Amino acid sequence: MSIRVVVAASGAIGELVLRPWTADDVHPLIEAYRDPTLRRWTRVPVTDEVEAEAWLAEQARGSASGRRLSFAVDEFGPGGARLVGNVVLKPPGTTDEGRAEVGYWTAAPARGRGVASRAVDALSAWAFGSFSRLDRLELLHHSDNPASCRVAERAGYAFASVVTEPPPGTASGHLHVRRRTRPDAGPEDA
Ligand SMILES: CC(C)(COP(=O)(O)OP(=O)(O)OC[C@H]1O[C@@H](n2cnc3c(N)ncnc32)[C@H](O)[C@@H]1OP(=O)(O)O)[C@@H](O)C(=O)NCCC(=O)NCCS
Repeated sequence: MSIRVVVAASGAIGELVLRPWTADDVHPLIEAYRDPTLRRWTRVPVTDEVEAEAWLAEQARGSASGRRLSFAVDEFGPGGARLVGNVVLKPPGTTDEGRAEVGYWTAAPARGRGVASRAVDALSAWAFGSFSRLDRLELLHHSDNPASCRVAERAGYAFASVVTEPPPGTASGHLHVRRRTRPDAGPEDA
């Protein structure tokens, strides 16, 4: 099944479409990864076609297994669609179906207009709508990444705690949490 999440155009941002990554994304992906800030905050290098294809294959495997749902973010403007970012959901596992984690980046030329905030907000709403047992979405960013902290707040992820002893393979930093909002939620559930 090919998932598409559409965010209507608003203000300075054209319509955003979250969609699965495809083989056609090799060159835009390499271009996005030329940015040193993106390379600083991401784990896997993408410098050439071989690495881009490996990266895309990893997203496809994650999607097939359901363990990592990674979406390219396209922005539609007068010139058509342009790749502007990536959002990823690591969905509920079998051991804890109530929680999942999100991650994201925006291509350097598209930053500062709210792309990440909107795409993460849309991904989060889609996740709560798609996984009925999901109750809590988590977002972890390094403490010296203030832009990511702002994205979290703007996408509805309240600061929860400072993580000083992260699990192996993950970073220390700030944990932000967005909970499912229920129509009948009282203040203690917010
Ligand atoms: C973090 C990142 C995703 C933000 O993307 P973006 O599309 O520019 O984000 P938005 O336009 O939605 O901006 C969100 C907020 O970040 C703020 N911001 C942007 N750059 C900033 C910076 N260098 N320092 C502080 N705040 C910054 C914006 O002003 C905005 O806050 P505001 O609403 O209070 O003005 C982007 O910088 C990026 O891809 N960085 C590299 C990868 C990364 O850090 N990913 C997150 C890993 S946890």
